[in-house]
Amino acid sequence: MRVKLLVCGGAGFIGSTFVRQRLLEHGDEITVLDKLTYAGREENFHDLATHERFRFIRGAIEDADAVAGAIEQSVPVAIVNFAAETHVDRSIAEPDAFVKTHAFGTYVLLEATRTLARTSEHGLRYVQVSTDEVYGSIDSGSFSEESPLRPSSPYSATKAAADLLVASYFHTYDLPVAICRGSNNYGAYQYPEKLIPLMVLNALHGDALPVYGDGMQVRNWIHSTDFSRAIGHVLEHGVAGEVYNAGGPDEVANIEVVRRIVELTGAQDSQIEHVRDRPGHDRRYSLSSAKVRELGWTPAVRFEEGLARTVAWYRENAWWWEPIRSGSYRAYYERQYGRALR
Ligand code: NAD
Ligand code: TYD
Repeated sequence: MRVKLLVCGGAGFIGSTFVRQRLLEHGDEITVLDKLTYAGREENFHDLATHERFRFIRGAIEDADAVAGAIEQSVPVAIVNFAAETHVDRSIAEPDAFVKTHAFGTYVLLEATRTLARTSEHGLRYVQVSTDEVYGSIDSGSFSEESPLRPSSPYSATKAAADLLVASYFHTYDLPVAICRGSNNYGAYQYPEKLIPLMVLNALHGDALPVYGDGMQVRNWIHSTDFSRAIGHVLEHGVAGEVYNAGGPDEVANIEVVRRIVELTGAQDSQIEHVRDRPGHDRRYSLSSAKVRELGWTPAVRFEEGLARTVAWYRENAWWWEPIRSGSYRAYYERQYGRALR
C-alpha cells in the first residue's frame, strides 16, 4: 500500500529509519516535520534528502501554524508521531522540554488531525510512537497492553501523558488513532548519549565506559529496523483505539552489553567503570509482543548480530558522529559524567 505520510520527528534516530523504509521499500510519499533539536539532524536522512517523494519541513509539533502548514503541503492519509525528547538522564536534569513536547505538542497534533479527519476522504489515521517505559519496571514476566501505566521518570511520565491524551481522542472524538510502544532500540544513527552508541564510541576512543550502579539492569533490545516495521504494521493493519507493544527478541543486562562492546571493539576491560546510579533507575523492562505479532510482525534481528552490525556502522561512519563528539555533546558529557571526553 503506497500512502502519503506526515512523519513528525522523522529527523531523529528511529523516525529517519522508518522514513527510509517507507520511502524505499513501500514507495510512500513522505513529509517530515521536525524541530531539529540536538538529536534531530539532517545528516540522519542525508541519503534521502533529494528523493522526489521526500519533503522536509523544519517546525515544532507544539506550533499549530507549523503543523497546519505541513498538513496543507503534504495532504497526508496518516500522521505518525515520533517527535519527542528521548533521554531519561536529560529529563531528570531538565524536564521542561519533555512536558512541552510530549503533552502540549501531542495535543496540538491531535487537534490538527481531528480537523483534517473531518474533511479527509480516506479516514485519516494517527499513530503515536511510544515506549515500554510507560509501564515502569517489572521484576519477572512481561508487560502486556493491559498492564497499568506506572512511569518512573519525567521522560516516561510525559510519554504516558501523551498516550492517555491520544487514547482520549479515540474515546471522545472517535479519532482513528493507534499507539505502538517499543522496547529499547539500537542501530545506526542513534545519538551517542544512549547506552550502546555511547559505549561504542568511548570504547573506540579509549574513554571510560560508565556503567550506572551494578550494571545488572535489564533491557529488552530491539533493532530500530524491526521497531520501524512494527510501526508500519500498526499503521497498515492496526485497529483504531488499540495499543500494540513491540518488544525485541533478547533481554540483556547492561554490563553484558558493555562487555560485548569491549570484545567487538578490541577495547580494554579496564575501561569499564561503575559510576553513581541514575536516580529512580528502572531495573528491568520486558514487553510481550503477542498482539502485534497477530498483525503479521515478527522481529528479524537478534541482538548478537544487530550489535555487531551497529558497532561496524559506527566504525565506518565517523563523518556522522565526529561533529557530535567534537560539538556541544562534549559539554553535556562533562556535566553528566563529571569528566571530559578524550
Ligand atoms: P531521537 O531523540 O533520536 O529523535 C527525536 C526526534 O524528534 C528528533 O529528530 C527531534 O528533533 C524531534 N523533536 C523533538 N521535539 C520536537 C518537537 N517539539 N517538534 C518536532 N520535532 C521534535 O529519538 P528516537 O530514539 O528516534 O525516538 C523516537 C520516538 O520513539 C520517541 O517518541 C521515543 O519516545 C520513541 N521510542 C524510543 C525508543 C528508544 O530506545 N530510542 C524506544 C521506544 C520508543
Ligand atoms: P539508555 O540508553 O539511556 O536508555 P533507557 O534509559 O531509556 O533504558 O540506557 C539504557 C540502560 O543503560 C539504562 O539501564 C541506563 C544504562 N546506562 C548506563 O549504565 N550508563 C550510561 O552511560 C548510560 C547512558 C546508560
